[in-house]
Amino acid sequence: MSVTPEEKFQTGLMLELEQVAEKELNRHLSTADEWFPHQYVPWAQGRDFDGPLGGDGWTPEDSTLSEVARESLIVNLLTEDNLPGYHRAIANVFGNEGAWGTWVNRWTAEENRHGIVIRDYLTVTRAVDPIALERARMKHMQLGYEAAHGTAFLHGNAYVSFQELATRVAHRNTGKASGDPVCEQMLTRVAKDENLHMIFYRNLMGAALEVAPNETMRAITEVVKAFQMPGYGIEGFLRKSVIIANAGIYDLRLHHDDVLTPCLRKWGVFERTFTGDGAKARDELAEFMEQLDAAATKFETRREERRARVAARKG
Ligand SMILES: [Fe+2]
Ligand SMILES: [Fe+2]
Repeated sequence: MSVTPEEKFQTGLMLELEQVAEKELNRHLSTADEWFPHQYVPWAQGRDFDGPLGGDGWTPEDSTLSEVARESLIVNLLTEDNLPGYHRAIANVFGNEGAWGTWVNRWTAEENRHGIVIRDYLTVTRAVDPIALERARMKHMQLGYEAAHGTAFLHGNAYVSFQELATRVAHRNTGKASGDPVCEQMLTRVAKDENLHMIFYRNLMGAALEVAPNETMRAITEVVKAFQMPGYGIEGFLRKSVIIANAGIYDLRLHHDDVLTPCLRKWGVFERTFTGDGAKARDELAEFMEQLDAAATKFETRREERRARVAARKG
């Protein structure tokens, strides 16, 4: 099988960045504290369900969580549940050798905690219909997960930098919106993991910008322009994401200000010197970010107007 120039470039780049990956892996291992999902779950609230144990079936009255909090928790959990799909996608990008392979497996093991702890919390507190949840999980996982940019190393790495930060924001704000201190504590713990994951990928992208600035810049621009949340394949995702955006848990403003901008600033993309296609990509990105900012403002204005109307009707 012949190797394309693109594949050759990619392999060379990964080889060049292997030492950075190892350094980042070791930094991660020394910062990430061990934690136990079972310690975050209020088991005393639990009781048997219908079925083989003959307990009580779920009813909506079982939980006082708001619809917003429920929908957001479901999206967050189904997203975490699809881990095998992400594992495959990321293993296809990073491979299973050396520091890259070690990271992929470590990351997967850490991510698994998120699905465990959120599911245990939801089941024990009877926060959502467990049968509907299980059916949604089956459906979602059987769809699998397709990385938007295939096995492209720079694109994959750029995507996960933003995605980890996006899930951090979504978990943290879902916790706040839940109104349950136990839920908030649990999701704050999960969000902390996502932040550490983001730092690993973000630092690698920073190193890639030094080694191959123009190609890296192009990849960042393409990923930002095509960005979709990892759970986009969840059934009813559009309706759910509108509920989540209207509640301010994850919206365009947060995406622009708290996810894209901090990464781009850290990488210094608008301060660096690029040439040729890299310079073109940076200009395209600047234009896109401006449009996104305007769209975010428009969304916020409409949301404010809607809230004011609802408040006036109630008042
Ligand atoms: Fe996660
Ligand atoms: Fe993560």
